[in-house]
Amino acid sequence: MGVLPNITICRSLSLRLCSAAVLLLGFFGLLAQEANDRTSILIEALQRLKDQDIETNPALKKAVLNVLEKVRGKSAFVDVVRDFKLTNEIPALLEFAIQNPRDPNAAESLKTLLQFGGSDRLKAALAQDVTAAPLINPLGDTGDNRIAGLLLPVVGQTDRSVDVRRAAVRSVVRVQEGALGLVQLARDGRLASDLKLITATELSTVRWPAVKSAAAEVLPPPAARGNAQLPPLAELIQLRGDSRRGATVFRLPEVNCISCHLVGNEGVDFGPALSEIGTKLGREALVESILDPSAGISFGFEAWQFSLKGGDEAFGLIASETEQEVVLKLQGGSMNRLKKSEIEGRTKQPLSIMPIGLQASLSTQEFVDLIEYLASLKKP
Ligand code: HEC
Repeated sequence: MGVLPNITICRSLSLRLCSAAVLLLGFFGLLAQEANDRTSILIEALQRLKDQDIETNPALKKAVLNVLEKVRGKSAFVDVVRDFKLTNEIPALLEFAIQNPRDPNAAESLKTLLQFGGSDRLKAALAQDVTAAPLINPLGDTGDNRIAGLLLPVVGQTDRSVDVRRAAVRSVVRVQEGALGLVQLARDGRLASDLKLITATELSTVRWPAVKSAAAEVLPPPAARGNAQLPPLAELIQLRGDSRRGATVFRLPEVNCISCHLVGNEGVDFGPALSEIGTKLGREALVESILDPSAGISFGFEAWQFSLKGGDEAFGLIASETEQEVVLKLQGGSMNRLKKSEIEGRTKQPLSIMPIGLQASLSTQEFVDLIEYLASLKKP
């Protein structure tokens, strides 16, 4: 590194910045010998030069691009790109966030990308579940209202995986326009039923009072007996109950869980057996499976509607199927055999057969006791 480039830089920068630049370029000389541990010092030196237009200063530009290559794919890459407005790095910013969704700079990388006008690329990445999944949560961390326009469409795409759509709700609700957009979707009847509980719960905790009260009108969170408000999900799963009292609740005629589920040898074999449900599901999933049965219908327990020749219909879970017949399991546990030749058509139902609103017959304490009981049902 000769003297000449330093002088060129000093002519075009203020004195203070000039000394930083000289410092920086001096470090570059060292860089050749001691590559890695110098990079962080270089980045620090670069920080002082940020907001300089590197296009008017070839020497600085060269230095910046050099450092950029050293940190490509690392957290510091995002800082350099942002500080020197390296707008042709939009694809790399996106790639960084996809590859490193848990990096502290993942959100910063997306925020920078949005500021650079890269939302079309982001939109394309959000259209695929594989690339959308890592991006959704960091997008919420950007706090940028533009994410509403990107994530609300994902919320509305019912052909997408439910995990991706739920993540989109959790993320978009963190900016005001996103929360408002969710309220609007619900008001227009365009919010899918498998997202209602999570949206209601998320909206009940937003920090904008007007949005919160609008949400409470269109999407009231689930209530317990006597219309008492259940605590928000996050609090509910912290509460501890009495599993013995919960066992009694499970068998109360008002909720009649036992009329559709086996526990050990007791009950009816219709829905999934719950003898080891505390091993399979955590508390949050247990609460959700009661408050919102359709949110995650267990595999093989989807409800089917069959239309039969002659105009009859049949409705139930498919217990088994051969070339000749379909065996339907009906509520109550009995079986209905349908000859294939009788069947005209079949459609899978979007809603669970498990009724919604069972918690409305219980007090909050009874509900918590029930969850405690379910959580206690574990592999011996
Ligand atoms: C009318 C029948 C019916 C009643 C009543 C009923 N369930 Fe269900 N339940 C089902 C069906 C069918 C499924 C499987 C479909 C689904 O996941 O929504 C299910 C699923 C579940 C699951 C998830 C199981 C798994 O393996 O993922 C839990 C937990 C559960 N029920 C608990 C309860 C509790 C507690 C009650 C009483 C408050 C209850 N159910 C009442 C039919 C019923």
